[in-house]
Amino acid sequence: MTSKLTAGARMLSIGTALPDKVVTNHDLEQMVDTDHQWIVDRSGVHERRIGGTTAGLAAEAAQMAIDRSGIDPSTIDLLILATTSPDRQVPATASTVQELLGLSCGAMDLNAACSGFVYALIAAHGFIQMGHNRILVIGAETLSRITDWTDRTTCILFADGAGAAVIEKTDGPGDLHGWHVDSNGALEDALFCDFDGKIEMAGKVIFKNAVLAMENAANRSLEMANLTPNDIDLVVPHQANVRIVEASCKRLGIPYEKTSMVIHRTGNTSSASIPLALEDAWSQGRVKQGDNLLLVGFGAGMTSAAAVMTWDGV
Ligand code: UT7
Repeated sequence: MTSKLTAGARMLSIGTALPDKVVTNHDLEQMVDTDHQWIVDRSGVHERRIGGTTAGLAAEAAQMAIDRSGIDPSTIDLLILATTSPDRQVPATASTVQELLGLSCGAMDLNAACSGFVYALIAAHGFIQMGHNRILVIGAETLSRITDWTDRTTCILFADGAGAAVIEKTDGPGDLHGWHVDSNGALEDALFCDFDGKIEMAGKVIFKNAVLAMENAANRSLEMANLTPNDIDLVVPHQANVRIVEASCKRLGIPYEKTSMVIHRTGNTSSASIPLALEDAWSQGRVKQGDNLLLVGFGAGMTSAAAVMTWDGV
């Protein structure tokens, strides 16, 4: 469902964290019946990073975002951690991150699979409308812990990482102009992980529905923002498969060159993938003040989410 436009907040800064350990496609060739070129051609992944804990990666990314923003961390009101691979079933990993960062604020996990960061960003804007001033939004995952490293249809894709953003109340209308969140629970069995289990995925089903879900979420958020695909300067898509992003861009009429892609070096890091790709574009000078960004993700559930925002950060 698409609801009324929210406003009044902006993304101040972003930060990221990736584990040190690199696993290349050639490393995977030693573990399962696959080859580097197949993985590159079918997904776009060349290598991925693995290791650490969700809380540890989340705290590292968040600290970078806080440092870049220049804010006093004691002014943060809420921490929302989007994750589908929490460190424990209870308590929320957000509470561990809060302790690691030495914050005094509300803390909660949000699980909307790979759409999680965009869901959390939209939720943060809502909390700010209700009176909060500063919110830390994080997407962090250690998918390597729930990946079956003997299953060549999934282990070539998933990896670990984190990205974070500081969201701050503004006097003006804010940077979020349109948004959309969705879920199609009928497809829950296409991608799931049971308690004590490993990720299982019907790749083709997810692929086909992902392209449609991304197109729909993007169009609905553009409509709300009263913008067209031509107005978008940069697309920051969920990094699941280069071919999914290419097909979605084609359907939306947005040149693929306008996307930020990091999947070749990160793999699919679920909730972390959109902030990782946003930070990559920002650090390369591809994100300028006033640029219109389209953040769009999809994931298990099947969830999807999009946000059209103007960059007004540091
Ligand atoms: O965050 C959201 C999560 N997930 C996704 O977005 C995943 C969406 N799906 C995909 O990205 C793709 O479906 C995959 C990358 C997972 C697979 O690509 P595909 O083009 O759909 O390949 P396929 O499943 O149709 O397999 C083609 C062939 C099969 O062999 P046969 O039956 O044609 O002989 C597979 O057995 O490739 C084989 N295959 C592999 N070969 C080498 C499957 N996995 C591998 C592998 N290495 N790792």
